[in-house]
Amino acid sequence: MIRYLCTATLLTTVFCQQFPPDIKDDIFNIISNTSVILKECSGTVVSPSELTFTLFNQENPENGIVLDHTNLQQVKPENRLILIIHGWLQSASQSWIIQMKDVYLNQTAANIIVVDWSRSAGINYASSVCAVPQVGSYVADLIFNITSDNAAQLNNTQINGFSLGAHVAGIAGQDIQTKTNGHKIGRINGLEAAGPGFVGRPANKRLDKKDAWFVQAIHTNNWQFGYGLSYATVDFQVNKLLLNCGAFQRGCPFFSGVPKSISNDILEGLLPHIFCNHIRAAVYFIESINSGNFIGVSCKSCFRFGLGLCKSSPTAVMGENCPSDVSGDYYLSTNARTPLARGD
Ligand SMILES: *[C@@H]1O[C@H](CO)[C@@H](O)[C@H](O)[C@H]1NC(C)=O
Ligand SMILES: *[C@@H]1O[C@H](CO)[C@@H](O)[C@H](O)[C@H]1NC(C)=O
Ligand SMILES: *[C@@H]1O[C@H](CO)[C@@H](O)[C@H](O)[C@H]1NC(C)=O
Ligand SMILES: *[C@@H]1O[C@H](CO)[C@@H](O)[C@H](O)[C@H]1NC(C)=O
Repeated sequence: MIRYLCTATLLTTVFCQQFPPDIKDDIFNIISNTSVILKECSGTVVSPSELTFTLFNQENPENGIVLDHTNLQQVKPENRLILIIHGWLQSASQSWIIQMKDVYLNQTAANIIVVDWSRSAGINYASSVCAVPQVGSYVADLIFNITSDNAAQLNNTQINGFSLGAHVAGIAGQDIQTKTNGHKIGRINGLEAAGPGFVGRPANKRLDKKDAWFVQAIHTNNWQFGYGLSYATVDFQVNKLLLNCGAFQRGCPFFSGVPKSISNDILEGLLPHIFCNHIRAAVYFIESINSGNFIGVSCKSCFRFGLGLCKSSPTAVMGENCPSDVSGDYYLSTNARTPLARGD
C-alpha cells in the first residue's frame, strides 16, 4: 500500500504543477486519505443550460443528437435506455465514455444518453459535491420527460454513474420515485461512487440500494476516491492488497486500462494514472459488457476472502451481466492487464 501511495503522491507532486491549486490540494488530500474541506452548499446554483444530454443509437453512433424538450421522441421507447454520467474533473468526451458507448452500440439497439455536467464537475471538489443534487434532479427531469409514468420503460432504464456521477444517478433515482409515486428506474450501476463528502451522509443525499430496483456497486478504490462502505443491493470488492479489498488494483498506477485520450491536455493525460484505482471500476464495467468472466464469490469479509475461506461460496457475475437476484458482498481478483477478467 505504501508503494501505491508513494507512486500516486509522487505523480501528484511532480505533475500537478499545472492544475489549479485548489484542485491540486483536493487530489493530494484524497489520495493521502485525509478529509477534504467541504462547504456549505446553500449558494450553489446549477443552471439547466450547463448540462448537455447527447443521444447515441445505432443510426447515430458517432455524432449524437443533442436532446432538449423538443426532440425527446428521438429516444425509441422499444429499446433500452442507458445513461452514462461522468465524475469530477471529467466531461462527456472522456475516452472511457466513448468506449463504453461504442461497446454497447456494437451489440445492442440501445438509446445511450451521455450526460455532460463538466462545468460544475471541473472546479474544486467541494463545489462539485454541492452541484450533485441539482444535476441529479435535472437528470430525473430528463428521464421523466422521456418515460413519463411508463413503469415498464422506467424498468428498462439503467444509469451507469462513475464517482460523483454515481451519486448524481442516486439522486435522479430518488427524484423519479417522487415524480412517479414510487415507480423506479430498473438499474443503477455505481462505478466507484465517490467517498469524500458522502461517507456518513444519509441515504437520501447519496446513491443507495433503494434508488432503483437493483443497484450494483463496483468498489476499486475504497477510502480514497471511492465510497468505502457497502451501500448497494450487491457490492463487488475488486482485488485485495494486504488487508484492503476493493481499494488497490493490479497494474496500477501505470496501466490504467483507459484508452489513450486524443487530446494532449495534461489533465486528460495524467488523470488516468492518478485516478488509476478509481477509474478501474469503469474499465472493468466496459470489459464486462461482452464478458461473464468477472466472477465474484460471496464472502463475509475481506479477511475471510484473503484466507481462502470462501472458495466454495455462491458466485455472481460482476458488471453489465450481473443477475438481478443476487445481493450482499462479493469479492474477486483480476489480471493486471487486458483481459482484466480472470474467469475464475
Ligand atoms: C465491434 O464488434 C466487432 C466484431 O465483433 C469487433 O471486432 C470490434 O472490436 C467491436 N468494436 C467495439 C468498439 O466494441
Ligand atoms: C422536462 O419538461 C419540462 C416541462 O415541459 C421542461 O420545463 C424541462 O425543461 C424538461 N427537461 C428536460 C431535461 O427535458
Ligand atoms: C420492475 O422490475 C421490478 C424488479 O425487477 C419488478 O418487481 C416490478 O414489478 C417491475 N415493474 C414493472 C412495471 O414492470
Ligand atoms: C482511510 O481512512 C479510513 C477512515 O479514517 C480508514 O477506515 C481506512 O482504512 C483508511 N484507508 C487506507 C487505505 O488507509
